[in-house]
This record gives sequence, structure tokens and C-alpha cells, in this order.
Amino acid sequence: MKSGPSLRGAEQAVSLAASVSRRDFLRGLGTTAISTATLGAESVAAELRQANSEKPQGPGGAAITLSINGERRALMLEPRVTLLEALRIHAGLTGPKEVCDRATCGACTVLLDGVPVYACMILAIEAQGREITTIEGISKRGLTPVQQAVVEHDGLQCGYCTPGFVMSLTALLKRNPQPTEADVRKACSGHLCRCGSYPRIFSAALAASRAAVAAKI
Ligand code: FES
Ligand code: FES
Repeated sequence: MKSGPSLRGAEQAVSLAASVSRRDFLRGLGTTAISTATLGAESVAAELRQANSEKPQGPGGAAITLSINGERRALMLEPRVTLLEALRIHAGLTGPKEVCDRATCGACTVLLDGVPVYACMILAIEAQGREITTIEGISKRGLTPVQQAVVEHDGLQCGYCTPGFVMSLTALLKRNPQPTEADVRKACSGHLCRCGSYPRIFSAALAASRAAVAAKI
């Protein structure tokens, strides 16, 4: 029979096992098992201590503070309220749109610490301590280059999806000022436009990138 690499490996394992006594083996195993069990018990105990020390919230209103577009907003919200509901209903910021309410369309996109997220999928209470940026926040001083390009390239029809696209493209250009079309398409991959404005939105993003680069030259 041919002695292949796997057979050679098995032979080496047998010879190694023979050189380790049963007592040594069990002693090593016992130490490892006890260490693992101790570490596991300690981390469970730490989690229980933390859970017991946390004050339960709800089901009624809880006082929460959100940092939205650079302003601190104190709100009284039930813990079940989503960030999207908090923004639209309680903070009066209707730029983020509610369409699917189930992480499919991207119309509700806001930035959380600069990263695009679906606001319909996050509880407002969880967004405390993070910087939330909505479409209102980025356009305080008029249209941004991305918004301007979307207008110039006719990148919207009903416009319902537009704020979400603009937020994701804004984040993209911030982290990658000269994206390729593939980068733009990837950044838009979490967004649906029922009016089919995709090609014009992509052109707008690339034009905004070129304009921003030219402005710095
Ligand atoms: S409303 Fe949030 S992803 Fe559609
Ligand atoms: S412009 Fe109408 S859904 Fe996109």
C-alpha cells in the first residue's frame, strides 16, 4: 500500500501518543478543562452582574438623549420606538423616509458615527451616545455637492428614495473621494428606487466626486 501524506501524518500521531503517558494526557486535559470552565463561569457571572446592575427600561416612556445633527435632543420614548420613528415623529425630522420598515429599501438611511444605517432597524434607545446625521444635518448650509449633482443629473423622479441614496453616497465620498462606478454601485446596493433612477444617480455620484476633486486643485 502506498504511504501517502495522510498515512504519514497518522503514523506520526500514533508515535507521539505513545510518547505521552495516559496520566500526562489526562492531567493536561484536566487543567485545560478546568481553566475553560473557570473562564466561562467568570464571564457568565460578569454578564449577570452587569444585567442586574442595569435599570430596566419600559414598557412606558424612558428618558433618552440623542445627539442628532450636532444637537442634543432629550426625548421621552418607549424602548420599542425605532430610531426612524424617533426622528420622524418625535424630533420632527422627516428627511429619512419610512417605506418598507424592514431593512429592504434604504429610504430611511441615516449616518451613525458616519456610517450609513437603516434607521428602521435600530431602536432609538440603542442610538444613545452615537452621532446621528440625517439629510437635514448635511444640508444645513444649502445643497451639498452630492445633492447638487443629483439635481443636475436628473437623478430623481418621485424623490422618495433620494435622501437615503444621498446619505450613503455622502459617506462613500467622505471615505473614498474618487470612487469607481463599481464603488458607487456597491455603496447604493442597499437602496431601492422604484422609479428606476439608478443610472442617473450613479452619474451624479461620479460627477460630485469629480467636482469635489476639481475644487481642491
Ligand atoms: S424603511 Fe428602512 S430600509 Fe426601508
Ligand atoms: S425617485 Fe422615486 S423611488 Fe427613487
